[in-house]
Amino acid sequence: MRLAMIGTGYVGLVSGACFSEFGHHVVCVDKNEKIVDRLNDGEIPIYEPGLEALVERNAAGGRLRFTTDLKDAVADADAVFIAVGTPSRRGDGHADLSYVYAAAEEIARAASGSCVIVNKSTVPVGTGQEVQAIARRTAPEKQISVASNPEFLREGSAIEDFMRPDRVVVGVDNDHAEQVMRSIYRPLSLREVPLLVADRETAELIKYAANAFLAVKISYINEMADLCEKVGADVQTVAKGIGLDNRIGPKFLHPGPGYGGSCFPKDTLALLRTSEEAGAPVRIVQATVDVNERRKEAMAERVIAACGGDVSGKRIAALGLAFKPNTDDMRESPALEILPRLQKAGAQVAAFDPAAMQQATPLLPGVEMAASAYDAVEGAAAVVLITEWNEFRALDLGRVKASMADPVFVDLRNVYPPEDMRSAGFRYSSIGRK
Ligand code: UDX
Repeated sequence: MRLAMIGTGYVGLVSGACFSEFGHHVVCVDKNEKIVDRLNDGEIPIYEPGLEALVERNAAGGRLRFTTDLKDAVADADAVFIAVGTPSRRGDGHADLSYVYAAAEEIARAASGSCVIVNKSTVPVGTGQEVQAIARRTAPEKQISVASNPEFLREGSAIEDFMRPDRVVVGVDNDHAEQVMRSIYRPLSLREVPLLVADRETAELIKYAANAFLAVKISYINEMADLCEKVGADVQTVAKGIGLDNRIGPKFLHPGPGYGGSCFPKDTLALLRTSEEAGAPVRIVQATVDVNERRKEAMAERVIAACGGDVSGKRIAALGLAFKPNTDDMRESPALEILPRLQKAGAQVAAFDPAAMQQATPLLPGVEMAASAYDAVEGAAAVVLITEWNEFRALDLGRVKASMADPVFVDLRNVYPPEDMRSAGFRYSSIGRK
């Protein structure tokens, strides 16, 4: 198949590279000339394990190229994917669809008569309908179809998620579009990955319903962790005990400082707005959002409490800044709430993250960016572990303790066994554990 991918952001780049790995011919389009030039030189602008090698291999094989010329890329494509950004609109939490609609119009103008436009960006229910209307208006003489094909990639394991997904969801309103989508994903059907074909609105809603459900799970276990602390129970064992029930499942039950990233915060808000406007507000998602907001504040309070109620003039070391490990993404990271609150309470904050320092520096004014975890903890009155990078799971605890002014360790990801930390001489606190 010949595919065009509009937008070389996270989803576009990963999807484009993976489709070319399937054997399709893929042209990725971006307006930003600098990004396209860098990509053609084999430079990958985002941090994603395995992506660089994948791009290199398929570009060398002639199946993957990058251009700013949308017209040329789209002209003979069987399907054109829209993977442009849909940021939260300031003020009302709605997804901003202006980039999607602008792309739809340009594609319709340049596309062949039987092209399928596929929405890969996360878009509210009804967007496919609107894109269809734009395509009809722009090119009434063409038989352009519009499909929805939501993405379920996790940053840090996006390639694996694309190549071995639990399912592929496709939303279509005619047989031609369905056949094109089935051909595109044939390599996965050979691996027996289920392909769920639904109508467009249903496919669009599945994406939001899935992300919001996962966010519910996280806020749920986070509130359970708070309850565990009050009643003297252990949240890790509670999570295990409920997760062993197949109906619940063990995943997404890790308590922590609250979910962040580019998807859960944005998608829960967008689903709320859609549901309110439709007159069927999903109240459980509102509660999930509220719990998550409050949680980030509570994490700073927890650090202050661990320091005896006062951090003024004290050095606090933060380990991990990205919203999760294996990414340099700072979007909605709990660190962005926690660290400024500590600074406001008078603390001097030093931080280290293996990948996100560059992204984090402009977002965290006044935070000292240390050269290593050990440099960050030097002279600190407390360490707060915010992101569970592997290298923070295997710290030389003797060295950490010896260099600190006061051995207070606040572990917001439950990385260490409490007994080990206490016997190592730390005043250790974690989430929902005794
Ligand atoms: C998520 C979804 O997993 C993916 O399917 C969707 O397409 C995009 O959003 P991503 O944002 O990359 O992916 O990260 P994910 O690994 O899902 O983590 C999201 C947030 O939840 C992180 O802040 C993480 O720390 C937090 N989290 C996750 C928890 O606090 N506890 C958990 O048990 C799992």
